[in-house]
Amino acid sequence: MDIRLRNIKKTYNSKTVLQIDSLKIKKGKITGILGPNGSGKTTMMKIIGDLIKPDTGRVEYDGKGFESASDRLTYVSHNSYLFNDSVFGNIAAPLKFRDMKKEYIEKRVEELIDNFQIRYLKYENALTLSGGEKQKVALARALSFKPEVLLIDEPTSNIDPNFIKLIESALKRINNDLKTTIVIVTHNTAQSLRLCEEIIFMRDGNVIQQTLTKNIVNSNDEFIKEFIELN
Ligand SMILES: Nc1ncnc2c1ncn2[C@@H]1O[C@H](COP(=O)(O)OP(=O)(O)O)[C@@H](O)[C@H]1O
Ligand SMILES: [Mg+2]
Repeated sequence: MDIRLRNIKKTYNSKTVLQIDSLKIKKGKITGILGPNGSGKTTMMKIIGDLIKPDTGRVEYDGKGFESASDRLTYVSHNSYLFNDSVFGNIAAPLKFRDMKKEYIEKRVEELIDNFQIRYLKYENALTLSGGEKQKVALARALSFKPEVLLIDEPTSNIDPNFIKLIESALKRINNDLKTTIVIVTHNTAQSLRLCEEIIFMRDGNVIQQTLTKNIVNSNDEFIKEFIELN
């Protein structure tokens, strides 16, 4: 689905941390959100995911309100909360919640367990896992019901380099096969160059550039140039 932000403003303790007049995130694409710490990336993602409310403005999902999209959109962050249940139970939860058939649930969970190479964790309690393992389970759970929109905040921040490729290919695959709209916050420029078709660059709560990824390396903006060189 198309996501459009209009006149969004968010203030904490009289400091404006996000101000976006107009922004469109394209349907079916992988979009990367880049920018330094504190630039408002997480705030923007949480507003899109309806986890926090903006002070002014609104987000439109195919032109409609959040209620129309809530069941087709999901948000995963680096500190996503897992349930006190097995890995299998965690990944199955969104499907059980949607009253899917038992056979389908088993098949879908098995598929994800293979995709994320976490078979050895299937019966472990999710709360006992390492940070990187938890992230994989959180992502598998988010993908279980095949959301139309996946919002991911720093998906690989705790993950070993050898698994980053796996996560990236999983994301590329679902974008390609299911046309899932993916929005990824990352401060890893190389990762966004590998994955994303479009980049939104943020600074001090503002979008300072939205561009096709292939053009960002030629940005004239000194701040963006330096950010990309250093990241
Ligand atoms: N709940 C909050 N209360 C007060 N300030 C907040 C809160 N959440 C975020 N901020 C502030 O808003 C700014 C943007 O934060 P955030 O969106 O998390 O940035 P990013 O994800 O780009 O690092 C930061 O200055 C942060 O300290
Ligand atoms: Mg953040």
